[in-house]
Amino acid sequence: MPTVRRVPAAVVRPLRTEILRPGWTDRLATYDQDETVAVHVAAFREGREVPEGVATVYAEPPPHANRDEIPAAAYGDGASWRLRGMATSDAARGTGLGRSVLEESFAVVRDGGGRFLWCNARLVAVPFYERLGMTAVGPEFDIPGIGPHYVMWREV
Ligand SMILES: CC(C)(COP(=O)(O)OP(=O)(O)OC[C@H]1O[C@@H](n2cnc3c(N)ncnc32)[C@H](O)[C@@H]1OP(=O)(O)O)[C@@H](O)C(=O)NCCC(=O)NCCS
Repeated sequence: MPTVRRVPAAVVRPLRTEILRPGWTDRLATYDQDETVAVHVAAFREGREVPEGVATVYAEPPPHANRDEIPAAAYGDGASWRLRGMATSDAARGTGLGRSVLEESFAVVRDGGGRFLWCNARLVAVPFYERLGMTAVGPEFDIPGIGPHYVMWREV
């Protein structure tokens, strides 16, 4: 069973950069919220000290463009948190670390008094998020240099 912990930004950033921003520096793959309001989650395979699953969450309402498809309650003050930087290592992929990280992220939202989690999901990751109970809302949109995405959300 993997271990999941809430950790400082510096623990999640190397894997975030490697998997989601290959060729960038850790500094370029930094979010404004990293050192302030964000909570970082890391999963470790048994006996290992380097995380092989990571994600970052912080309070932010979902995009207004999706307000017809996401419950109005999600737009209330502090109701929604955003998931970013979700990644597992190539070596550990498919072994349950992604699930562990996302489930802990749901717990972070609940602990923070939130009710909803949303993200900009890469098209390739949509089936993973659906498996974890998240719903895609349209339309598909492109993030230049990264590719097609959907907004996905879930009540936690
Ligand atoms: C998306 C990602 C984080 C998933 O992590 P993972 O470690 O492979 O996920 P898990 O092994 O915990 O899988 C959890 C569940 O999702 C399912 N799943 C994962 N990827 C899937 C896929 N592409 N299609 C269908 N189901 C999938 C698994 O079968 C598993 O189901 P189960 O628990 O019922 O057996 C990982 O593939 C990744 O880092 N991809 C590259 C970076 C990326 O695209 N990140 C998302 C950015 S929005």
